[in-house]
Amino acid sequence: MSQPIIHQLDILYPFIQAPMFGVTTPEMVAAATETGCLGSLPLGDWSAEQSVQAIRATKALCNGQFAVNLFVHKVPQADEALKTQYAGSKQFIEALAADHGIEVSLPGIDEINVDDYHAQLDAALEEGCRIISFTFGNLDEESIRKCKDKGVLLIGTCTSVDEALILEQSGIDMICVQGLEAGGHRGSFATEDIPQIGGLSLLSRVYDSVKVPLIYAGGMYNARTVLAAKMIGASGFQVGTLLLNANESALQPFERAGLKDRGESDIMLTRSFSGRYARGLRNTFIDALEHSGHILPYPYQNRLTQSLRKAARDAGHTGFVNLWAGQSLSGLPERSTKEILTDLVMDTAALNNEY
Ligand SMILES: Cc1cc2nc3c(=O)[nH]c(=O)nc-3n(C[C@H](O)[C@H](O)[C@H](O)COP(=O)(O)O)c2cc1C
Repeated sequence: MSQPIIHQLDILYPFIQAPMFGVTTPEMVAAATETGCLGSLPLGDWSAEQSVQAIRATKALCNGQFAVNLFVHKVPQADEALKTQYAGSKQFIEALAADHGIEVSLPGIDEINVDDYHAQLDAALEEGCRIISFTFGNLDEESIRKCKDKGVLLIGTCTSVDEALILEQSGIDMICVQGLEAGGHRGSFATEDIPQIGGLSLLSRVYDSVKVPLIYAGGMYNARTVLAAKMIGASGFQVGTLLLNANESALQPFERAGLKDRGESDIMLTRSFSGRYARGLRNTFIDALEHSGHILPYPYQNRLTQSLRKAARDAGHTGFVNLWAGQSLSGLPERSTKEILTDLVMDTAALNNEY
């Protein structure tokens, strides 16, 4: 079942190092590639210039191809109502931070950059990237055509059957099916509220509904969970949370310590940090924001909280940083990306042979 994926992605094993903006480093991507898996470099909300720098830094370390990953979101118009709401949220969050000893001046709405993905996509194409994965939406027709003209392989993310159908109908080559268990942002885009369907049901139903190869993401952390996804219809396996504590992760020591001895009751879906639902560790900021009425739509909330998150990170303050993690957060290995992925690949092969 995994043969087409291996050939199309030019990898030895059908495992994908999940793009994790803020966590994935060029070193992590290179290590995944060296292991024979697909490394993924997330470009998140970087400018085109920052994206080019990261792509070049990764190319310098990588022997093989890697995927670049885009946030494909629509930017809501900043009308008067949104401007007023933004000013209120800014005031609320600045006061909250000050109460907790973080003095930070957040940007006004006219000072933030809310560009969409087009400049990043052009930069990735200019840099010769040949595998592009994306989340939060679907590429527009013109972008898909541009990619196809250059022979780029496209991987879209779905969190519902409807989203999978939209992606397939627009010619996307592979679909990453993201289970509700997954760490980080939900890739949802077809409905206002995020779909609540669990990973196993979703994967099975998407498998019954589309013909393109499926990559599963969400809750896989050992051979058993990978093989479960394989049995239900996945030909590729994307792991994120398992790599959070890898040597090549960008997480700082205080963030790694914050992940220790935590379980599923410590994590939740929240829009507090970015305005889009993401799964991560509950903390002071989330508790204060969740029912405050001060959460703006993405990307406004994301931009508004950016300097606060940076100040908190510099100060080692776990209460105000976004620490994304999935439901299989437990006993995260503290080893190299290569060792973690090699073990997963080998254990899966061994268990597969037993049946
Ligand atoms: C810290 C973190 C950051 C993430 N950032 C991205 C991202 O930039 N782009 C993306 O497509 N998915 C992102 N994700 C989601 C992953 O690609 C993947 O769906 C998820 O990690 C799989 O579930 P798991 O965490 O249970 O392994 C992120 C996940 C985590 C944990």
